[in-house]
Amino acid sequence: MKHIVCAQEFDRKFLDQFLLDAAAMKEYWNNPIWRLNIQEWLPGQNVCSFFYEESTRTRISFETAAQNMGMRLVSTTNAGAFSSAKKGETLSDTIQTLMGYAPRVIVLRHNEEGSARTAAELVDACGKEVSIINAGDGQGQHPTQALLDLFTIQSELGRVEGITVAVGGDLLHGRTTHSLVYLLAKYPNIRFIFISPNELKMKEGIVEHLTQSGIPHRETEDKGVIADADVVYWTRTQRERMDEELFARVNGRYSITASDVAGMKRGAVILHPLPRLDEISRELDRDPRAKYFVQAENGLYVRMALMARLCGVSVR
Ligand code: NCD
Repeated sequence: MKHIVCAQEFDRKFLDQFLLDAAAMKEYWNNPIWRLNIQEWLPGQNVCSFFYEESTRTRISFETAAQNMGMRLVSTTNAGAFSSAKKGETLSDTIQTLMGYAPRVIVLRHNEEGSARTAAELVDACGKEVSIINAGDGQGQHPTQALLDLFTIQSELGRVEGITVAVGGDLLHGRTTHSLVYLLAKYPNIRFIFISPNELKMKEGIVEHLTQSGIPHRETEDKGVIADADVVYWTRTQRERMDEELFARVNGRYSITASDVAGMKRGAVILHPLPRLDEISRELDRDPRAKYFVQAENGLYVRMALMARLCGVSVR
């Protein structure tokens, strides 16, 4: 695999190996002796992280991951304002310019859906050995988030096959939910329950994909159905991707509280890509099923394992 653009592109063979890599990476990095060795893995390889949209976890975990393996990093945040995009430069011209500085990996977050694909195609057309990683393209996808979500589910539940996943919140605009559904749909006997206001229902193409693949799924406005789930994956209303009138109408309708999770399965997990606003109440943080901060930490191991693999280092 050269680029990481969308979750459909991962196959089961890759995922099975990758989950083992990520687990090994977590173990190595938390061992003080092995950790020293990891810092020698990718010396002198350049990573360029280019973020047009705001980010905390994705950017910091990618950049930490790169530096943990001895990579060299150049980084732009708020690229819409701090790069030449502000002067009107196109994404293609920016990527073509960056290629001249010989990065091994470009981690790209952009506000437009399809931007990572455009960048990857340009790199290939120029015949360059550069990997593009999609770190979120507008309301499109966020495939590395899906990998860390998958890793967290596998680590916490010990399985992915046969689980019921309740995905809640802004499913129309929430790119993490899009990538996660495509990814989990590759596992047998998965069921999905989509919980959202009617205005923010799961993207049509994704529902169609599930229907065509014969994967059980249903859509509801009733958050009570989380009682049936092994994974409750909750998300934020993407205010920046809708008008204020719609935001005012839907905001706050999908908060989950201790009383909502009282009926949940004992062995279930509650995940959230973060940042959260008030859609998961703070009191839930003490619930042993709440794993969103573990999930965020796993992003580091998953992104280390991913960049090692893209750069040809075998983790195990
Ligand atoms: C998400 C994103 O940027 O899509 N955050 C993340 O990367 N963990 C979710 C969000 O912004 O709601």
